[in-house]
Amino acid sequence: MEIILAKHAGFCFGVNRAMDLALEIGDKKEGAVHTLGPLIHNPQAVKKLEGVGIGVEKEIKNIEEGTVIIRSHGVPPNIINQAEDKGLEVVNATCPFVKRAQDKARELLEDGYQVVISGDKDHPEVVAILGYADNKAIVVEDESDFSKLDTCKKVGVIVQTTQSLDRLQKLSNFLLERVGELKVYNTICTTTGQRQDEAGRLSQKVDLMIVIGGYNSANTNRLAQICRQNDVQTYHIESADELKNGWFANNINKVGITAGASTPNWIIKEVLSRMTEINEEVQENFEAVELSKNEVISGKVEQVNSDGAYVNIGTKTEGFVPANEVSDAGKEVSEVLSVGDEVNLLVLEVEDEEGKAILSKKRVDREQAWEKVEELVESGEVIEAEVTREVKGGLVADIGLRGFIPASHVSVDYIEDLSQFVGEKLELRVIEVERENNNVVLSHKVILEEELEEKKKEVLASLEEGQEIEGEITKLVDFGAFVDLGGVEGLLHISEISWGRIAHPSEVLEEGETIKVKVLGVNPEKERISLGLKQIQADPWDEFIEESEAGDKVKGKITKIVDFGAFMEVKPGVEGLIHISQLSREHIDKVEDVLTVGQEVEAKVINIEPGDRRVGLSLKELEEAPKVKKKVAKKTSAPRTEQVNDDEGSGVKLGDVFGDLFNK
Ligand code: F3S
Repeated sequence: MEIILAKHAGFCFGVNRAMDLALEIGDKKEGAVHTLGPLIHNPQAVKKLEGVGIGVEKEIKNIEEGTVIIRSHGVPPNIINQAEDKGLEVVNATCPFVKRAQDKARELLEDGYQVVISGDKDHPEVVAILGYADNKAIVVEDESDFSKLDTCKKVGVIVQTTQSLDRLQKLSNFLLERVGELKVYNTICTTTGQRQDEAGRLSQKVDLMIVIGGYNSANTNRLAQICRQNDVQTYHIESADELKNGWFANNINKVGITAGASTPNWIIKEVLSRMTEINEEVQENFEAVELSKNEVISGKVEQVNSDGAYVNIGTKTEGFVPANEVSDAGKEVSEVLSVGDEVNLLVLEVEDEEGKAILSKKRVDREQAWEKVEELVESGEVIEAEVTREVKGGLVADIGLRGFIPASHVSVDYIEDLSQFVGEKLELRVIEVERENNNVVLSHKVILEEELEEKKKEVLASLEEGQEIEGEITKLVDFGAFVDLGGVEGLLHISEISWGRIAHPSEVLEEGETIKVKVLGVNPEKERISLGLKQIQADPWDEFIEESEAGDKVKGKITKIVDFGAFMEVKPGVEGLIHISQLSREHIDKVEDVLTVGQEVEAKVINIEPGDRRVGLSLKELEEAPKVKKKVAKKTSAPRTEQVNDDEGSGVKLGDVFGDLFNK
């Protein structure tokens, strides 16, 4: 394993100078020594300073005596004044590059320029520079801040040392077109850019990057981010203890190391030393690896061509997977494998005549697929797989193996054209596995059935007697209609379809039609639902009894003829009976002698029984009354007149007749 340390890594000039100054003071001074804030963003370095008696204080007000060290970012001048006023000894470790930016800001202010600082307004370095411009400078973080500069006439620009040149150029171009006089001081420090460029280049050449520095160090985090953007495995560590052998075990040939500007050199040295140890350990393991025939090993694909794939298997021997050992599906090598893929392989030959290990991917995949399929048939777990083709009697799906879906297991309905499923992804359950016959049977239907059953249960549980619900008519039969209520079917019996008499449901309903029905009864155990349609329509009987009374004349059609009379529809949904005795004042042998089905007649209402929903009708009563016959009294009797009424002679009471007949 080759280890490459970036040329520019670790302490920059400014941080190094501040650290040296601090350590020197720590050695010499007897009184208290503090840094104002952590001297650098690195916990190990801060700890080292503590070891020589240098503590950290956030604010001057907390320091009563002794020496205060100003860190490389610098501080506003009023802070230094406060320290001196308190009688503290000030050691100013501000980086000379930052100091130059502070001096230029002061100079521009004194020469009457509007000072503009390009940088991050909350960064301590910018806060300090702002102080040198008497807090009158405008801080520009990005282009959205450019509008703050519209009214400026004479502008002087300073840049935060870690800013990019690109941002400075954009700002300068904007100002050039607008201000009368412009002075730009490029106070950018090249150190940061240099480290970032080098980390970017190095990370493109290696298999793994180690970035060393404090987790709270912005410039170290940025270095790690740049490496990851190059798709290289990157570990950000603070110290050598965090390194792990496992990171370097798998096909890692080159390792790059870089460190942030606040990372002390001694930490970099510790990391390098630990890396050398790890390298030796990994190398020993590498050489200890010996291949065996039929062993399953892992490797990383290094090269792919139409003949096969070369794989790094962590041994001195090169691994090769011939094209016919790549996949069972007859795909091109490049469709299955790409450079960088980590794969499991079976050793077919430890070493061929060219010294390569010959490996198979498809045999490992096949074995794994059988194991998986056997687990699936046990567990009943649902899988999703693509239908690859139609074959005689069904479909084939790719589940890592050839899975057969018989036509009868494709759907709950009969499917005429199975080809419509080719290319579709289906949810499937393995229902049969015979490894010896290379047979795996799948079903989509069982999943659909379970879903339907589940839905049916939900609907049944939600239905209540009296509830009104919409449903679709799925089938019309002689005795009614089946209505789909969303997963479960209910029966709408012919007698519950209409208040009027209908001979067949098709007279009023159509298959596929959506209708609103009333739930008349639910039996969840037997999964029976009885429905009514007429119950959600106005009852014509109620209207009839409201508008009719005995003695009224009604017109209607004869709907049915029976031995004892004829039924007549007095309004849709209401029928009355004309008893044979009410057909005529004449004697009638057979009802058909007087009436035919469909005949329009007028009758007289002679009786309404609302409770039993019965109407008695009479034709006879509308016939002209017979002439009165006068009889001459015998000499011995007083003369009298008598009307002969056939009603009296019929001997039939209407209510008695209905009482028997309506119940038939
Ligand atoms: Fe100074 Fe540049 Fe370092 S400004 S502190 S040398 S990054």
